[in-house]
Amino acid sequence: VNIGDLPTVWRLRPSDRPGRGAIPLRRRGILHGHLIAEPATDESATSELQETWRAAEPILLPGILAPALAPLGEAIAASRALFERLRRGARFLPEVLAALEDASDFRPEGSTFDRLDAREIEKVFVAPRIDGRRGRSIGEVWAKLAWVAHDERDRSLRVRFSCGTEQLHDWHDDVTGQIWSDRLAQALFPECTAIADNVELAELIAELLGAPPRFSERIVYSNAPGGGAVFHHDVERTQRGVVYGQLQGATAWLALPVCELARQIVAHGVAGAPKTIDDALRRLDRDDDAVLFALLNNDPTFTARLAHAGWLCVLEAGDALLLPSHDRERVAWHSVFALGSEPSLAHSYGVFTASDPGATPTDP
Ligand SMILES: [Fe+2]
Repeated sequence: VNIGDLPTVWRLRPSDRPGRGAIPLRRRGILHGHLIAEPATDESATSELQETWRAAEPILLPGILAPALAPLGEAIAASRALFERLRRGARFLPEVLAALEDASDFRPEGSTFDRLDAREIEKVFVAPRIDGRRGRSIGEVWAKLAWVAHDERDRSLRVRFSCGTEQLHDWHDDVTGQIWSDRLAQALFPECTAIADNVELAELIAELLGAPPRFSERIVYSNAPGGGAVFHHDVERTQRGVVYGQLQGATAWLALPVCELARQIVAHGVAGAPKTIDDALRRLDRDDDAVLFALLNNDPTFTARLAHAGWLCVLEAGDALLLPSHDRERVAWHSVFALGSEPSLAHSYGVFTASDPGATPTDP
């Protein structure tokens, strides 16, 4: 399998001596350093993919989406314009109604917002239709518009497509619903095909999974300057990994297996941080550890440590990143920084095996 061009290696320089052409790595008010590109050596480009996948290391696929981008230029521009309207406060439901006006297989049924979810802006529910009638055995699918961060400085937005009751996570057992959610994502964001219909990408992932992939639980991102996502993992019961495709603009990533992250935390040795790998793994599992959160996300010296260890990569338009998530012990944790002076556009899909039972989008 051809994994694309030789990747560029990105180094992180201290901000007091960034050098010419360096790109500031800034998120939510914190400057983590300056990025500078160096050409990769052959050695760094020829790692064994299967081994990398099993070890839950991130797999960068430079340029794999690039051939699809030019024909999708209009769709990409339209999606960026949609996010700009939403950022300025436009309601999501009228946008969905307008986009699905001529779609015979979907009918928007209304929208809600969850007062207990501070990041949620609006969730639009859509009923799938078969031969002009509402499918009896198919529930509603939905598109949820939300802020990426709990931080007013970060204007990054995302739209997640799923089905069922969000708090119950019951989408796992509803493959038909997932596939209708994928179709809704495709209807609202036609540039989905850049990833979903990419033969090279599908073949590569099939080799890693040992089965053809299905790309569901789709999220469309518009990461805004100075924004991005803090460290997290995407382990889900039925999900084998995540594929992230940069369609416009650029993002910087710290991505590494959880065991390696735990090792780096211990080695960094700051006060109050875990002293053993087991303790680091335990504390990474919690979501209320303020010391660890600050170290992972707001400490430029820790960012520099991970970059120096080779866990930093940059995605430009046309690049994809594959993040394995086998289980909690073998998963790529990751953190994202928006680069550039304008909000960008990217899609992120859960990777599933297409052989799951019920994987046909029909109404029995
Ligand atoms: Fe993620």
